[in-house]
Amino acid sequence: MCGIVGYVGSNDAVDFLIAGLSKLEYRGYDSVGLSVFDHETILTRKTKGRVDDLRKVLTSRPLHSATLGIGHTRWATHGEPSDLNSHPHGNFRVSIVHNGIIENYRQIKERMIRKGYSFSSETDTETIAKCLDYYMVQKGEPLKAISKVIEKLEGSYALGILIKDTPDTLYAIRKDSPLLIGLGDHENYIASDMTALLKYTKRYYLLEEGEIAIITKDSVRIVDCEDFLEITKEEHYADWDEESAEKGGYPHFMLKEIHEQPDAFRRTITPRIIRNTISFERDNLDDRTLASIRKFYIVACGTAMHAGMIGKSLIERYARTPCDVVIASEFRYQDPIFQDGDCVLIISQSGETADSLAALRLAKQAGVMTLAIVNVVGSSIAREADFVIQTIGGLEIAVASTKAYYMQLSILYLLAFKLAALHDLLSSQELADLLHDFQHMEDVARDMLNQSGNDQYLASLYQGVKSMFFIGRGLDYGLALESSLKMKEISYIHCEAYPAGELKHGTISLITEDSMVIALASSKAIVEKTISNIKEVKARKATVLLVVRDDVEVAEDAYNQKLTLPSYPDVFMPLIEIIPMQLLAYYMAVLKGNDVDKPRNLAKSVTVE
Ligand code: F6R
Repeated sequence: MCGIVGYVGSNDAVDFLIAGLSKLEYRGYDSVGLSVFDHETILTRKTKGRVDDLRKVLTSRPLHSATLGIGHTRWATHGEPSDLNSHPHGNFRVSIVHNGIIENYRQIKERMIRKGYSFSSETDTETIAKCLDYYMVQKGEPLKAISKVIEKLEGSYALGILIKDTPDTLYAIRKDSPLLIGLGDHENYIASDMTALLKYTKRYYLLEEGEIAIITKDSVRIVDCEDFLEITKEEHYADWDEESAEKGGYPHFMLKEIHEQPDAFRRTITPRIIRNTISFERDNLDDRTLASIRKFYIVACGTAMHAGMIGKSLIERYARTPCDVVIASEFRYQDPIFQDGDCVLIISQSGETADSLAALRLAKQAGVMTLAIVNVVGSSIAREADFVIQTIGGLEIAVASTKAYYMQLSILYLLAFKLAALHDLLSSQELADLLHDFQHMEDVARDMLNQSGNDQYLASLYQGVKSMFFIGRGLDYGLALESSLKMKEISYIHCEAYPAGELKHGTISLITEDSMVIALASSKAIVEKTISNIKEVKARKATVLLVVRDDVEVAEDAYNQKLTLPSYPDVFMPLIEIIPMQLLAYYMAVLKGNDVDKPRNLAKSVTVE
């Protein structure tokens, strides 16, 4: 999704903006641009394409001696990726970069056309720029003009603003789209994402709706947008190091993050396991509150939703607490029937996913308890949920989520076991035994990572495959969904995930000798049933990769290739099985020459509906 950076200081603003924009590349984008003050004149350079394309534009049309500017990476929503639709938008008087969507932009545009303005792009953003210009002319004063613009806008926005009359000042506002103000030493910054600032500062303010930030090299003032009274802000500190935003010797962030999973797992669970018991006290979530939950709505998108599906199985099995897993974009329009004791559990890596945030707000409005599992501290979901359990494994940069999924699963295991203990469904000894095996998963995950050669080999066999089915039962079905998503999003191979027993109710008609089926059979309790289903596809001449635990004998004619997993209790197999599936998707994408970390059409944090 779109990204914003801004700089005011004594150093070269263009250098900062280019470096910041490069850090935001991971979010997914299709065009890029910047505006700076050059000798009190606003100058803009922008282009369709990548940051490297902008560098080329800057080589042919250089900008000198700028110490204040704004930059943007655009992920097209209104209008195709093109030079004209790229941000910044504006004229000689104002320039803006915008994240979000303005819902009433047509009305504003028509009004501005009536006032004599013409438009050169198809974007909603240009209407904000024209509106700001109009009010600058009318009011002659930046704060009054910005305040008027805020009054007119409906939708979501984070805006970085330059105004010709104040060539030493950077302005920023936001609503429902993140924006941070980085605090430096004789220089200050804005960014939609802390990753862009880690190299320069870890200190920041969170800007809120209804506030205007007025930022110069030596000061940051935040005022209320109605009466311009000064607001005192709490200073935050980002404890992520810059290294986590670097590849650290790996060819791709995705591979680095897959390899970081054992560490992330340990860092997430260790502070919550105290002498063979589980505690969420560090998350301000006490036992009484947890024990009062009668039903969960687990609401999330994509990979986070897939983690939720495993969570549902665990919570229902161990704690016998009913769970519905609902895709956030559906939940928000479903008019759910809430009852006393319900808890809406939002799972989100970024904490900014628009649909998940809307679902959270819907639950809050209905007076239902909200709990969030979030990776990004200070994100909107983390701030707005009643309770937050933070995953503690550092930044996730690759668009395809791996480490975040692993950490989300880790928390869901703890939650299921904790609830079970609270409801007296696990004795202390049973809980201690489960925790013992659970903690051992860190070592098992490391072993799985050491076997990545198998995945490289399999990827070389399957690189020509055009379509794949992932099948499994129970927890394996949840894993099939996630494995299939990983494969399709980065390898661009058409994939479907199916409950193994459901295939014969229609979809098996697609299975031919050209089909590739990845059959997940990690669960001992139902392995025989899954193997019968595998035989059904094998009988139709599909190529079968069987992923199976090593304590199960399977006749050789049931598969073409086999990937064996170490045998542990069924409940822990998802933590083992997902690793080779992530690696297989990764190596397939590498062999196909795809942009692994920035797959086409995708964005890291989906802040539009
Ligand atoms: C897939 C992926 C997405 C996200 C989804 C939710 O690899 O990353 O499916 O899981 O967009 O994002 P968050 O977790 O940030 O709410």
